Amino acid sequence: MELKINKQTHQVDAPDEMPLLWVLRDLLGQKGTKFGCGKGQCGACTVHVNGHAMRSCITPVAVAKDANITTIEGVDESGNHPIQIAWRENNVPQCGYCQSGQIMSALNLLNNNPTPSDQDIDNAMSGNICRCGTYPRIKQAIKDAATVMSQNKGVK
Ligand code: FES
Ligand code: FES
Repeated sequence: MELKINKQTHQVDAPDEMPLLWVLRDLLGQKGTKFGCGKGQCGACTVHVNGHAMRSCITPVAVAKDANITTIEGVDESGNHPIQIAWRENNVPQCGYCQSGQIMSALNLLNNNPTPSDQDIDNAMSGNICRCGTYPRIKQAIKDAATVMSQNKGVK
């Protein structure tokens, strides 16, 4: 089947029911998206499918056929997206394992709600688990990114 990942087209030989995460990591070698629980409960595998955050470990690849898939690798290769900058400036990651999923969920939030309240952030991020406890830094980084992204939109 054909998949559109980070604006590039890929041909993959996979059964419809294979989890998208398997396809990304094992068939295409895109290892930025992480395997955590494999049951849709930790958020480590979060990607965007047609602009919606989805748990790729429980999403059959057939769901993503003809869709635009964005993974952590597609956020900004140069690392200069406001969300990446905010993550660096707030020293968010500890072990780092959960962070690509955290960023993809945060980006989904900001794309849909450019000025989230604390409660909005808590609600949007509640499905992303961090065993290192980086939650306060994540929250601050989301607020910083929101400020910059709103300013950037204002300029355009
Ligand atoms: S690995 Fe998908 S939600 Fe945990
Ligand atoms: S930074 Fe280690 S699990 Fe989140």
